[in-house]
Amino acid sequence: MCGIVGYIGSEQAAPILLDGLSKLEYRGYDSAGIAVFDKDKIEVAKAKGRLSVLAEKTDDGKTIHGYMGIGHTRWATHGEPSDENAHPHISNSGRFAVVHNGIIENYIALKKKLVERGFEFISETDTEVIAHLFEYYYKGDIMDAMIRVINRVEGSYALGVLCSDYPDQFIAVRKSSPLIVGLGDGENFIASDVTAILKHTRDIYYLEDNEMVVLRKDGVKIYNKDKEEISKEKFTVDWDVSAAEKGGYEHFMMKEIEEQPKALRDTISPRIKDGRIVLDDISLTTEDIKNINKIYIVACGSAYHVGVVGKYVIEKMCRIPVEVQVASEFRYCDPIIKKNDLVIVISQSGETADTLAALKEAKNHGARILSIVNVVGSAIANASDDVIYTWAGPEIAVATTKAYSTQLAVVYLIAAYMAEKLGMLTSGEYANFIAEIEALPDKVAQILTSKEELQFLASKFFNCRSIFFIGRNLDYAVSLEGSLKLKEISYIHSEAYAAGELKHGTISLIEDGTLVVALATGQELFDKTVSNVKEVKARGAVVMGVTTDTHENMEDVADYVVKIPSAHEMLLPSLTVVPLQLFGYYVASLKGCDIDKPRNLAKSVTVE
Ligand code: F6R
Repeated sequence: MCGIVGYIGSEQAAPILLDGLSKLEYRGYDSAGIAVFDKDKIEVAKAKGRLSVLAEKTDDGKTIHGYMGIGHTRWATHGEPSDENAHPHISNSGRFAVVHNGIIENYIALKKKLVERGFEFISETDTEVIAHLFEYYYKGDIMDAMIRVINRVEGSYALGVLCSDYPDQFIAVRKSSPLIVGLGDGENFIASDVTAILKHTRDIYYLEDNEMVVLRKDGVKIYNKDKEEISKEKFTVDWDVSAAEKGGYEHFMMKEIEEQPKALRDTISPRIKDGRIVLDDISLTTEDIKNINKIYIVACGSAYHVGVVGKYVIEKMCRIPVEVQVASEFRYCDPIIKKNDLVIVISQSGETADTLAALKEAKNHGARILSIVNVVGSAIANASDDVIYTWAGPEIAVATTKAYSTQLAVVYLIAAYMAEKLGMLTSGEYANFIAEIEALPDKVAQILTSKEELQFLASKFFNCRSIFFIGRNLDYAVSLEGSLKLKEISYIHSEAYAAGELKHGTISLIEDGTLVVALATGQELFDKTVSNVKEVKARGAVVMGVTTDTHENMEDVADYVVKIPSAHEMLLPSLTVVPLQLFGYYVASLKGCDIDKPRNLAKSVTVE
């Protein structure tokens, strides 16, 4: 949520900043701005709307000169999208320019004090207080001013700050919002995420909370809050530049859907050695696993939907009770966490504010935290006792696909790993389960060969006003994700229901022609879901059934049938979700929606 980038070097800064922001636009896209130090003053360009508006206004940055600058792409929290509210924000004298990602919680009190002292505000943002605070505290040493500012503000921040008294350096700091430092040859960078600077360097520093960085053309120094220089380990990113490019696809979402077989392989293969699941990443011993009393799974959105699958799978395979909660509820529900309870936190970005807060709440109650995270070195990863990384690579489309799939794969690995340690699987069952997990990437690839079928179905239904997804148990868990995928990118109202629950009220919404997507992949409950299909058909629904190639009688009841390959029952969600992702994508595409950047949304929800 909001992306920031900064550059110092020998190249013209503005085009580099705009290019970096184009990779961060997924974090917010309602306005953008840059500030560049040129000769003896800071020049600023901002524009409401997509980054392309700013690019046009500045001729792709060519009209702004100078070799050092900061940039921002915004997802509005305080104040509507407008030129005034766009970052960078400037202090009254024009000496300081600030870009900020996060929320300053005490900004109202600070603003009041600053106004009393004669500072003039031109925006409605929380961030503007930072620019004025710099001015207020500045006595000739920018680091001293920074320390006073961060001691004064409450909340979360990643900040990039230019000061016109320092023509050859700029500074940055972070707390609870992401910020990395990119180390180039004669040039250095800051960014909210590696993708923004991958073109220039793969060598980075991850900053911890309240570490301040001073960037010069020929070097970077990092300091703690006591102004002591600290040394950092350099981290080399092994992502390919193409990982963050569209590579010929019209949308990142389709590219990422198609990357799922590889992402699954990269996540699964390193963790299976000699026919056994090896989770070197975690420190949970067999004894710890045997002692687990209860598991909580906490996450938001699609990651929460992975948790719903996880509940069914872990309870079935390990017979340990599992409670799944959305993080925004968990953080305020005063959870009853006992000794030996395990909290599994799931997050692609590793920076979702509610998930991070829920993690901290669980920690305060003494829980042990195992997180499943995609972004290395992110706040959630850093705050966890154990982390299992999903190796999905950068996910740019706002609607998650490959991260969801790799999170599922990790949940399966954890479930089977624990089940084996608990003696819940025979050696034959264990070997079979592992073979089935290893087969998933190829089966997903097989589903992707019949994309046209989903495109055809989308062409039939893209004008629907409302679509229902139903299923039982694991199929219900996937219905939640199918429904979210469709609604968030196509803006068609959609709901997911446990198939047996529909008749307790919601069935009154079914009328002639309402599309019901019925998932019936499992053996045990197949007939039960078929009965629910008959119920909605009797009330005029058109039904699209999704089932495995072993079930033949779905054709007898549904109007359209999508078949997926068969697999171990517990693993079917990994396959069922793929046609639903494709369906959502094609419906949104036929409606002409902005698929990668749906309205009102942003990836990485770093606000509460
Ligand atoms: C939906 C989607 C969101 C995220 C949610 C959590 O397609 O992507 O629902 O799953 O915002 O984000 P992370 O996983 O980054 O914590």
